[in-house]
Amino acid sequence: MKRKIPLLAAGAVALVAALASHAGRIEDTAQQSGTRAKAAVRVEPIKPIVAPKVTNFAMVELGKQLFFDPRLSKSGVISCNSCHNLSMGGTDNLKASIGHGWTPGQLNAPTVLNSSLAIAQFWDGRADNLQQQAAGPIANPAEMNMSHELAVRTLETIPGYRESFWRVFREDRITLEQVTKAIAAFENTLVTPNSRFDRWLAGDNRALGEQELRGYKLFKASGCVACHNGPAAGGTSFQKLGLVEPYKGDTSIPGRAAVTGKDADRFKFKVPTLRNVELTYPYFHDGSAKTLAEAVEVMGKIQLGRTFSKDENDDIVAFLRTLTGDAPNFRLPQLPPSGPNTPEPTPFEVVKK
Ligand code: HEC
Ligand code: HEC
Repeated sequence: MKRKIPLLAAGAVALVAALASHAGRIEDTAQQSGTRAKAAVRVEPIKPIVAPKVTNFAMVELGKQLFFDPRLSKSGVISCNSCHNLSMGGTDNLKASIGHGWTPGQLNAPTVLNSSLAIAQFWDGRADNLQQQAAGPIANPAEMNMSHELAVRTLETIPGYRESFWRVFREDRITLEQVTKAIAAFENTLVTPNSRFDRWLAGDNRALGEQELRGYKLFKASGCVACHNGPAAGGTSFQKLGLVEPYKGDTSIPGRAAVTGKDADRFKFKVPTLRNVELTYPYFHDGSAKTLAEAVEVMGKIQLGRTFSKDENDDIVAFLRTLTGDAPNFRLPQLPPSGPNTPEPTPFEVVKK
């Protein structure tokens, strides 16, 4: 039985056509400044990543400490970095994350790298921004399982933190808002510029090989860019998983509908970034695709109604690997020692579900 391509797919195709007319256009920004001409910058649906300018270094440093501090969890062993390991592309490389009391999660942990570039946070976009997001995992019983009051109280018993929060915020008490603000300030710095693809965008013709270029052309021509576009090659919209063919797997998760309450948003997810995608396996909200080859095959089939040959799939995967940028380069933070009144962690407490 042949399925008709739904209206949305037609919309996507129109968008692709619009983007394609943009694609490949070369903007010659060459400026004859004395002897050297600048290379021609390419205008493409995937935009270069621009590293943010850090203005408040003390706040970023504090946020970095909090990101790595397991004392924000009831067990005393789970930090943000446990599931968003910055040595592993900002993920845990697990199908679904494991939280407090070894509780199995339902969802694959998205990378925190470049997450500041997305329109919203979480697979269903229920947090508007990084600051709003950061409060979630601390209190989530299946993640860090720490009430916000307890988290803040714990930080107040650590003399080193009292001092640095005072230095950054100049308020008498530590508050949850300060905690999430600092974490978000740190996360804003977690961008990965200077990938080979970015260097090609900036005009370096040798940055991509023949196969990678072929892969990028196919990525554009077959319509992937309708959803994976912008500086993060994703994160710009919510889209249904299984637009042309139904997704083969568990479809019980509501996705975006959980936020909007609209039936039309069932099984829509935030389009994930493809930046550093070679590092962020396994793929999809449920971690069902083990390899990039598998993810590309599924995307072709169920989002675009297209079956790629082995060579075509290899080409696209080769292109996707060029999206790996410079990892954030910073010193591992040293955490201030606990004080005499810092609550004891309770790693073996039974979890209520
Ligand atoms: C137990 C594992 C775990 C811990 C600990 C954890 N996260 Fe997450 N994180 C996840 C999972 C799983 C998701 C996806 C959940 C969803 O979409 O509903 C997520 C989503 C996110 C997102 C959204 C990314 C995106 O692209 O939508 C950000 C940002 C994030 N976490 C930051 C943090 C910070 C900051 C902390 C520490 C305060 C933290 N996480 C602690 C597992 C974890
Ligand atoms: C109609 C929109 C749409 C199109 C077209 C599309 N994608 Fe996706 N892509 C998504 C969504 C939504 C997800 C997340 C799916 C999920 O949550 O399970 C995704 C996920 C992915 C992932 C996994 C990323 C991760 O971190 O989990 C890869 C890789 C990917 N797409 C590549 C492609 C390629 C290659 C094409 C073209 C053949 C393509 N996509 C076309 C919307 C789209």
